[in-house]
Amino acid sequence: MKIGIASDHGGFDLKPTIVEYVQSLGHEVTDFGPATGESVDYPEYGEKVADAIVNQQMDLGILICGTGVGMSLAANKVRGIRAVVCSEPFSAKLSRQHNNTNVLCLGARVVGNELAKMIVEEWLAAEFEGGRHARRVDKVMAIESKYADQIEDQPFCG
Ligand code: RB5
Repeated sequence: MKIGIASDHGGFDLKPTIVEYVQSLGHEVTDFGPATGESVDYPEYGEKVADAIVNQQMDLGILICGTGVGMSLAANKVRGIRAVVCSEPFSAKLSRQHNNTNVLCLGARVVGNELAKMIVEEWLAAEFEGGRHARRVDKVMAIESKYADQIEDQPFCG
């Protein structure tokens, strides 16, 4: 598969480990940056990978920041993205099988290198099971569609 990977500065040190590991599993990796560990804003890099997925340049994405949270928030704003933050392999595997996630977010300040590799391995190896899960994922995506046109009319919720 074609896997897009990006980080911010919080995830920068973990990124090469994940790039090499994903390549060792037989996947083609595109590194969407950043090229150095200087401070950057995670939404910019989350959007790059999310955009490549919805435009079908990449099959799946892996985003790494300090906690994985910021990257998941950013990626999930892109229509068609289902990003999950995982700090253990079980949820990662089930997020593919049941939720058809297309982006995995990792927190480099939460998980160590070896645990991160296990999470990535389980996530990439798992396949969406469809069936009743497809109905539920369709309902999730219907929520996205329902509210997409209303965002400009909503007061800021935060
Ligand atoms: C950067 O300090 C940190 O906020 C970022 O990597 C991430 O954890 C945000 O969710």
